[in-house]
Amino acid sequence: MAPLDAASRAAVAAVIAGSSRGTVVEADNLDALAVIPAGAVDLVYADPPFATGEAQRLVSIRTGRGTRTRRGFRDREVAWEAVKDLSWDDGLPLDQHLAALEARLREVHRVLAPDGSLYLHVDWRTVHHVRLLLDDVFGPERFLNELVWAYDYGGRARDRWPRKHDTILWYAKGDTWHFDREAIDRIPYLAPGLVGPEKAARGKLPTDVWWMTIVPPASAERTGYPTQKPVRLLERIVAASSRPGDLVLDPFAGSGTTGVAAARLGRRWLLVDRNPAAVGIARGRVASVTEDVR
Ligand SMILES: C[S@@+](CC[C@H](N)C(=O)[O-])C[C@H]1O[C@@H](n2cnc3c(N)ncnc32)[C@H](O)[C@@H]1O
Repeated sequence: MAPLDAASRAAVAAVIAGSSRGTVVEADNLDALAVIPAGAVDLVYADPPFATGEAQRLVSIRTGRGTRTRRGFRDREVAWEAVKDLSWDDGLPLDQHLAALEARLREVHRVLAPDGSLYLHVDWRTVHHVRLLLDDVFGPERFLNELVWAYDYGGRARDRWPRKHDTILWYAKGDTWHFDREAIDRIPYLAPGLVGPEKAARGKLPTDVWWMTIVPPASAERTGYPTQKPVRLLERIVAASSRPGDLVLDPFAGSGTTGVAAARLGRRWLLVDRNPAAVGIARGRVASVTEDVR
């Protein structure tokens, strides 16, 4: 464990006190969690490495210079260049992966407010282990949903059903939690003809199966960070499970998607990643949104 430096501690304290809207901290999340007081956080979204047994490649992108361009906010053209080819290790043996995760989940539980909740994003490799781990840390009675994020992209297995979904486990800290149905984006009915034109125009609330595309490779949203999740996915979670002004924590922040969603929706955000390249991308993304919403 390496204690957080003074500047990072001050930045975290300012967000908790409400004098700053958000910060992105470069640290091991266990060290960052250690400086957060109990009960200070309203919502946690965590997307840990999936225990793929591989190193994930990352081409780090610097915007503002370079010969390549992509479309940025409000369709502005943004120059960018690839500056580094880094990787982060997702290759821990499963027992070590789960032990490391458990230590972090116990801290997440400590920092959550009494009506706070955790969304934990996993896939088929660990979901069965992690569900039991969460039952242990939060209590089985605190389980709220197993959300299925279904997408349809990339190659298809020929010898089994193609694996095209992730699982997001939602647990509450206490016996009451925040859930705002009215704030959730609505989706088209599968059979609009059966419900009448008014209902069809309004759309319906999603169930626990969310069909949503991954971030398309050529889109402006794409940062180049592997495992980047769609902002739309995070906006749905943040809108439903936090209030304006609430504090949202992402201890495995990657490219900062949770910060983008939180900033757009008027929440405070605390993002942590130990990878300097991820922190650079997340800071750039969040800064461009806050300029946009200021
Ligand atoms: C699956 S990615 C998160 C992707 C993110 N949701 C996004 O939309 O870009 C997991 C991230 O966790 C970070 N990470 C892994 N172990 C960590 C630790 N102990 N402390 C802080 N960050 C960690 C990795 O550097 C990586 O960026």
